[in-house]
Amino acid sequence: MKVVTPLFDSSVRPRHVAIIMDGNGRWAEARGLERAEGHAEGATAVREAVRTCREQGIEFLTLYAFSNANWQRPTLEVEALMRLLVEFAESEKAELREHGIRVNVVGEVEDLPTHTRRAVEHVIDYCADGERMTLSLALSYGGRQDIVNAARALAVRARAGLVLPEEIDESFFHKEMTTQSLPDVDLLIRTGGEARLSDFLLFEAAYAELMFLPVMWPDFKEDLLIDCIRQYATKERRFGRTSAQVAAATASAR
Ligand code: IPE
Ligand code: IPE
Ligand code: MG
Repeated sequence: MKVVTPLFDSSVRPRHVAIIMDGNGRWAEARGLERAEGHAEGATAVREAVRTCREQGIEFLTLYAFSNANWQRPTLEVEALMRLLVEFAESEKAELREHGIRVNVVGEVEDLPTHTRRAVEHVIDYCADGERMTLSLALSYGGRQDIVNAARALAVRARAGLVLPEEIDESFFHKEMTTQSLPDVDLLIRTGGEARLSDFLLFEAAYAELMFLPVMWPDFKEDLLIDCIRQYATKERRFGRTSAQVAAATASAR
């Protein structure tokens, strides 16, 4: 197995990268192709992003593959996306397992058609022992919905006397969300030229560095991802503190 040394030290590289993979449809339309062909080409970019993150020592990669709002798209396009997911799960599982990549889903997996859900559950089981990286696919995902579902689950438990309101803090709340096993997002990238979140990881990206790229998702290559990680590595993440406080904390941690 080819071993690549990460370009950036673990103290400056992001631990959790999340990507809004936007622009497949426009990529295809610009070439006179069907939108579904753009999604198929997008799957190639997914492979490259997963490989690059693995080689660069990223522990968590979360990909926005299908939002709960995307159910409103034409049936044929939704079907093509659901088929591509099955193909991706089947064609990638061996390599994912070989590289120690665990697969996880955030969002409402029970909303997926049975065939797609089974394929996704199978790849999750198949790669369950992976310890090097976690690849999360956001499927039928909506950030607000995830927050509301968590609030509802806590309300039910509180009414039954199983939770005290004063026990509910940020980390307790997060345990009710489908992203419960993921750390906060450090770097959030969106391709496709729009500077919006489209309901992605609203709770988890509270302090993420946001990067919006004009390229369409199928054109998102390794060098662009590495550029984003490089830019991230130069950021001072203050989390509300002053620069001087951050410098002092870093010095005392050494
Ligand atoms: C992103 O590409 C993939 C999904 C939303 C599933 P789009 O299909 O949104 O592509 P554009 O934005 O129409 O170009
Ligand atoms: C966001 O892209 C969802 C995914 C990439 C899966 P959209 O294309 O659905 O977002 P909007 O509609 O432009 O906000
Ligand atoms: Mg789009």
